[in-house]
Amino acid sequence: MTAAKAKEKIQELTEQINHHNDLYYQKSKPVISDYEFDQLLVELQNLEKEFPDFRLPDSPTQRVGGSITKEFTSVVHRYPMLSLGNTYSAEELKEFDARVAKALDGDDYEYFCELKFDGVSISLIYENGILTRAVTRGDGVRGDDVTNNIKTIRSLPLRIKSKDIPPYFEVRGEVFLPKEVFKQLNKDREDIGEETYANARNTASGTVKMQDSTEVAKRKLDCYLYYLLGENNRVETHSEAIQKLEAWGFNVSPTYKLCKSMPDVLSYIHEWEKKRLELPLDTDGVVIKVNSLEQQERLGFTAKSPRWAISYKYKAESISTKLNAITYQVGRTGAVTPVAELEPVFLAGTTVKRASLHNANEIARLDLRIGDYVFVEKGGEIIPKVTGVDLEKRNPKNKSVQYITTCPECKSILIRKEGEANHYCPNEKGCPPQIKGKIEHFIQRKAMDIDSLGEQTIRQLFELGFVKSPADLFYLTKDQLLKLEKVKDKSAQNMLAGIAQSKTQPFENVLFGMGIRYVGKTVAEKLARHFKNMDALATASYEQLLEAPEVGEKIAQSVVAFFKDQNNHVEIDRLKRAGLNFESTQKEPEKVSNVLDGKSFLISGVFQNYERDQLKNIIIAHGGKVLSSISGKLDFLIAGDNMGPAKREKAEKLEIKIISESDFDAMLAK
Ligand code: IVH
Repeated sequence: MTAAKAKEKIQELTEQINHHNDLYYQKSKPVISDYEFDQLLVELQNLEKEFPDFRLPDSPTQRVGGSITKEFTSVVHRYPMLSLGNTYSAEELKEFDARVAKALDGDDYEYFCELKFDGVSISLIYENGILTRAVTRGDGVRGDDVTNNIKTIRSLPLRIKSKDIPPYFEVRGEVFLPKEVFKQLNKDREDIGEETYANARNTASGTVKMQDSTEVAKRKLDCYLYYLLGENNRVETHSEAIQKLEAWGFNVSPTYKLCKSMPDVLSYIHEWEKKRLELPLDTDGVVIKVNSLEQQERLGFTAKSPRWAISYKYKAESISTKLNAITYQVGRTGAVTPVAELEPVFLAGTTVKRASLHNANEIARLDLRIGDYVFVEKGGEIIPKVTGVDLEKRNPKNKSVQYITTCPECKSILIRKEGEANHYCPNEKGCPPQIKGKIEHFIQRKAMDIDSLGEQTIRQLFELGFVKSPADLFYLTKDQLLKLEKVKDKSAQNMLAGIAQSKTQPFENVLFGMGIRYVGKTVAEKLARHFKNMDALATASYEQLLEAPEVGEKIAQSVVAFFKDQNNHVEIDRLKRAGLNFESTQKEPEKVSNVLDGKSFLISGVFQNYERDQLKNIIIAHGGKVLSSISGKLDFLIAGDNMGPAKREKAEKLEIKIISESDFDAMLAK
């Protein structure tokens, strides 16, 4: 393709994809399938790789990440990012209102009420309509430039199309992880035996500062905007500013309201006290702002916060109840979770009897003793938590908690790995909840998808001794199933049909279902594509595993350990005999050009502009081959940062060309 043609095509694709993005994320009315959308994006990605100079500042390829930031640049805020004064009562709010009234000297004024979003504040700078910078709050005076990470937020416009925009403006808002996304993220982590995150806000904050924007893109952050700053915005009130933001395509929470007076403000606060729990994100209060910008100016700022705004914080509903006991749950991976068994108490709409205590550190931090009265709270999440001990009610005879040393289910001695908060039961093959958990993991939708079996069926099958491992499912007989409670001919038939049907699940689902620690669905897909079949994966060395996309040391070690265990080979053989898929049918990426025909590459280290995986796909798409080790057959070693010295030495000895990322780009551009 000629350069002129490429430039034109890049422009066309950028516009087209941004249009579809808008239809999907702003208007919720997509007109093309996800697949068609992805095809367009891949086409643009490939063109931008070949002609990097033609990439547009609002290119949608930035949404999927691809950049690595070693250290975030510190940026001084043109307008400092202040905080807000907090109030907790109607009384304090009335005092605020009296101060406003006094300062405005008898003028009429209105309040604009919004919810206080519990996320990470961000400042976005738009120059000539293009998002040029996103900066964290930092200490309020200077923050970190996290532009590449923020650009992965789909609902954020990278370019504003309206004509009426000032040449420079800033928009501030709150970046957050939607509750559903957070829940799913934790579920996925639990699935692979990773510790779960404590709350959505801290996770969002950690995500904004991740070094690899590809990882950020996967986290699905979102953002609400609530503050427009700049010199030429031509608005007179905050409500006009909010309307402008909406018209320019920003994501504004629809929960705001203009209030004429303090009683209106109080009823807004009251209205949202319960309703806010149904919103897609965590909120912890209401922000009340004087609506007129001229009046805001007259009111001004204190050193820390504006005099024209205040936040009202909802009290997290908290109640004190007795801690009767601590019990312990063992999960699929053997992780032990302590649970507070409470004297039942009514809190925010439901009766609470139990609350998770997470791990031994948390029990020590709270200094819990059995018989203590503890404070229980419900945050945005439905799961209650113990926030502290009511020391006034403590009986000095209450005994401190001795954390268990043996598994409550199978009596094995628990272990606690260096640097991990959780205790584990090591008896993978003999501990009942671990066995049942493994079978439940195996039948879930993302794995074998056997929905004719459920938790209760698995429990009974295990208790009757019919099923001790996933493979046993495929050798069940109808007579055995008929021994289960309430199971008649028809449902037994159904279960067998579901089990038989599951044999058509692709290899990557089977691999995920095996439950290898740290091998989530995405990693299973990558492993399946890279190694193509179970035998190749099972015999892969630690080094060969590291060469697969998305595989780091932790995963490689875990896979090696899994295949060292003979029991796992026995299980795999039985699954194979039952007829499950152990070969990948995933296709290689489609071919785009022949520029790398006949050339072989080895990828090593970390890259500025590519994920290793991406690089691999590009090589294959342009006709090249990717090898997994250094040998005489290798033509080029693409060296990123942190490539091991041993590799370099070996390549030099064999006189293999060592090239950089930009050498590779140049090679492609030919
Ligand atoms: S307005 C001059 N509106 O709360 C301050 N802030 O405690 C203007 N926040 O740093 C901020 N929701 O991160 C505003 N609807 C909302 C908000 C909000 C959450 C955060 C924001 C700010 C902090 C102040």
